[in-house]
Amino acid sequence: MGSHNTGAARDPAGERPMSVEDIRESYAECASWIDRLDWLERRLTGRYRRRLFGDVEGRVLDVACGTGTNFPYLPSTVDLVGIDISPEMLATARDRLEELEVDGTVEEMNAQALDFPDDSFDTVISSLSTCTFPDPVAALEEMDRVCKPGGRILLFEHGRSDVGPVARFQDWSADAQYASAGCRWNQEPLELVLSVGLPVRAASTHFLGIFTLIEARPSRDSLVDAVRAHLPNTR
Ligand SMILES: C[S@@+](CC[C@H](N)C(=O)[O-])C[C@H]1O[C@@H](n2cnc3c(N)ncnc32)[C@H](O)[C@@H]1O
Repeated sequence: MGSHNTGAARDPAGERPMSVEDIRESYAECASWIDRLDWLERRLTGRYRRRLFGDVEGRVLDVACGTGTNFPYLPSTVDLVGIDISPEMLATARDRLEELEVDGTVEEMNAQALDFPDDSFDTVISSLSTCTFPDPVAALEEMDRVCKPGGRILLFEHGRSDVGPVARFQDWSADAQYASAGCRWNQEPLELVLSVGLPVRAASTHFLGIFTLIEARPSRDSLVDAVRAHLPNTR
């Protein structure tokens, strides 16, 4: 499968993005140290996860849930499904789910070909993931497909800094970063989401503009809005 333009000045994955199998292998190697560094991850990103995901409702899908870092920030009332391509990351996510009082399951699945019917979830969340997907557009289109009309797609992503020297460093080292970690660290998450046609309700950047919080709606909602706008006012 070819790569899409992710919005960065030049996609470091180019025409030869890592395969899903490459990504699975690389996370098999690093799952245990990612788990050991969970305390640091929480310090750095916990407030953004809480802000974006703290009020989700209903049936919730966490796409590329990794070790389940988002799980403690979700209300205990949700019915949660977490998916990821890495069995090693999911093993930690499963343990975490058992420790928390959240109803849910985790499953091994490719974000680019979700095994759920259309309109299955009230809320779809994903964090620090689009930089890693071999085909981020396909993954976002799948999130759009499985989110119910009127639902929410919430993304916490990292990308190209708003601060010139930092952004230039990210551009300069993007190829090396992609080769070593499979991560497009200079992509522009908001441009990526807009390129897929998801209506964005709110977006903000933080931490030198490296983190982006996005609240989007399923693309079908914009069709509904357009039809409503043309209906005679019956009130
Ligand atoms: C940087 S980690 C982020 C994990 C977690 N969401 C977090 O915020 O800590 C990226 C995750 O994406 C997963 N991933 C990458 N490509 C995937 C794909 N095509 N389908 C499902 N998961 C994928 C990796 O296995 C890894 O767990």
